[in-house]
Amino acid sequence: MSDAASPSERALALRRLLQHHAERYYVHDAPEIPDAEYDRLFQALQALEAEHPDLITPDSPTQRVIGAVLEGLKPVRHAVPMLSIRTETDTTPAGALSFDTSVRNTLKLPADAPPLAYAAELKFDGLAINLRYERGRLVQAATRGDGETGEDVTHTVGTIEAVPKWLKGAHAAVLEVRGEVFMRRDHFEALNERQRAVGLKTFVNPRNAAAGIVRQLDASIARQRPLSFFAYGLGDVQGWDVPATQSGLLAALAGLGFPVDAHHAVAEGGEGLAAFHARIAAQRDALPFDIDGVVYKVDDRALQQQLGFKSREPRWAVAHKYPAQEQVTRLNGIEVQVGRTGKLTPVAKLEPVFVGGTTVSNATLHNLFELRRKGVRLGDRVVVRRAGDVIPEVVGRMNVDPQAASPPPPRRPYVPNFRMPSQCPRCGSAVLRERGSVEHRCSGGLYCPAQRQQAILHFAQRRALDIEGLGDKLVEQLVEGGIVRTLPDLYRLGVATLAALDRMADKSAMNLVAALEKSKATTLQRFLYGLGIRHVGESTARDLARHFGTLERVMDATELQLLEVPDVGPAVAQSVRTFFDQPHNREVVEQLRAVGLHWPEHDGEADLRPKPLAGKTLVLTGTLPTLTRDDAKALIEAAGGKVAGSVSKKTHYVVAGEEAGSKLDKARELGVPVLDEAGLQALLTAPVDAQEESTT
Ligand code: IVH
Repeated sequence: MSDAASPSERALALRRLLQHHAERYYVHDAPEIPDAEYDRLFQALQALEAEHPDLITPDSPTQRVIGAVLEGLKPVRHAVPMLSIRTETDTTPAGALSFDTSVRNTLKLPADAPPLAYAAELKFDGLAINLRYERGRLVQAATRGDGETGEDVTHTVGTIEAVPKWLKGAHAAVLEVRGEVFMRRDHFEALNERQRAVGLKTFVNPRNAAAGIVRQLDASIARQRPLSFFAYGLGDVQGWDVPATQSGLLAALAGLGFPVDAHHAVAEGGEGLAAFHARIAAQRDALPFDIDGVVYKVDDRALQQQLGFKSREPRWAVAHKYPAQEQVTRLNGIEVQVGRTGKLTPVAKLEPVFVGGTTVSNATLHNLFELRRKGVRLGDRVVVRRAGDVIPEVVGRMNVDPQAASPPPPRRPYVPNFRMPSQCPRCGSAVLRERGSVEHRCSGGLYCPAQRQQAILHFAQRRALDIEGLGDKLVEQLVEGGIVRTLPDLYRLGVATLAALDRMADKSAMNLVAALEKSKATTLQRFLYGLGIRHVGESTARDLARHFGTLERVMDATELQLLEVPDVGPAVAQSVRTFFDQPHNREVVEQLRAVGLHWPEHDGEADLRPKPLAGKTLVLTGTLPTLTRDDAKALIEAAGGKVAGSVSKKTHYVVAGEEAGSKLDKARELGVPVLDEAGLQALLTAPVDAQEESTT
């Protein structure tokens, strides 16, 4: 858009653009620009309208909730409108203080009045849903739509396990519960992984996947895809006593059988909100789902009513954002990386961009076919997503300039300007692709230094042999220098050899040798996982270790015997068999044992004693005095128990350490027994019979 355009022309152009992008987002669940870009356009229009109030039109996106009903879904008029809340875009803690100040000012509180109590919650990045219960039974689920009228999505939402079909102990004439339908990140990754493997279109992010699935006409798709739900509010209520506070409401909703996220807290004043914002920011990457911010609500409902609304937004609530997880940047180059199994991955070299809280300059493009389907070309402006500990990825190209005055023209024909190499960029071996596969592979095997390097890094990682101090750069030096060729070579490294390497102090060399020594005492599960057998992830390694008990039995198992292991299918069975059929792999295993690797062995599952925690669900919170979170989890799982992420009535025990958070409060609230580390240890070793008595 040229700067010469008049304000009214600019406003008109921005409105048309926002309309177009809102339709892509709300109607088609297929945005062409990231939310952050949309927000920038929105703010540009807001600023323009603030400067020229005469330019405001009633249909301006700044004046109404955008959203529309998808053709084919039945419109539903909301009994109580589904409003949105004001967004605080200052992503620093100051944003929390200014909300508190504005609430106190509106309430005309004197400066020395005590701090207000706020319910602080996560802002789930999904899709808002109204669930209508009549006499305790779910009768309708609807999207927000434009806030007045949404879409009937009972057929798809009704298939979501987390959405109760009946309320527990409530028979109110009408009770509408509002919350967010979302997809967990791991489910999203797995869904895209499946799509990618067969060359199908992938979803841009979990929000779009969830929205797309909920708004399908055909419920069978929803049934196969794992969606989740968290409740956080109410709509129409007839014949039910609404709790006096938002925090009380959340507890009541949990009591009715709704999943309520355990991270919520009651915060005191602006300071308390700012602390909540910071605390959740630190946990954001580790959460199993996307959040785009936190939400603050005045806790007391009477005060909420007193505060009321301003231009259809409650004055008593605000959304406080975190840095966006998707941004636009330029694709400067594409480098091909070789992974542990020889898979070639095109990696985008990007103009560095701040996304999801860090600066990103590399992002995966997954494979050639996905790159082509997304129509990505060198030099394009692309959308990058970085969420949690998932590797940053290029989710698509911007086929529009968001600043352009009109919606995008039809796509230009795609002429790729990148090719997959026919020889491995690291070792020169031929690059092959199996018929029907989307993956290109280096055929060099362990001759290829890249594959060796990745194999060593995999073996050394925390979840495998956990060799501290054996990082990327060091392994590259060791492999390139021909010092380490196979895994057992690692254990033959001496302090002198290591200290002679670039950037390696004597002290670090000694530490590494000590770490290697320490890693020798391991478990069969870690060892099997560390070998890097195709299709053998952590959980398969655990199943194999449990089932067979000794390495010899795993190595000698036939494909049929392998298929007896729970969750082991033909692909895994074949891959395990093939791995141990290779003499050089057996040789590596033998040498590793010869240099001193060892682990406890048992006789396999058949003659194991009954598990002390079989059928029990535990939740961990806070820091335990000696066990890490992973260790505690491993111990519980080895004893047959399950570790869940949040506390519910189904939780059998909560194990709490120092600085235990809201999960502990939740446990107390629901009367779930709370243990410390010693209590956990006692459970793990308790004879099964004695335990049954004490818990029933
Ligand atoms: S409360 C009147 N709480 O954010 C208050 N909303 O604009 C209504 N959201 O459309 C919303 N997490 O989809 C509320 N803990 C939470 C939320 C939440 C996510 C979404 C919701 C709503 C939008 C707010």
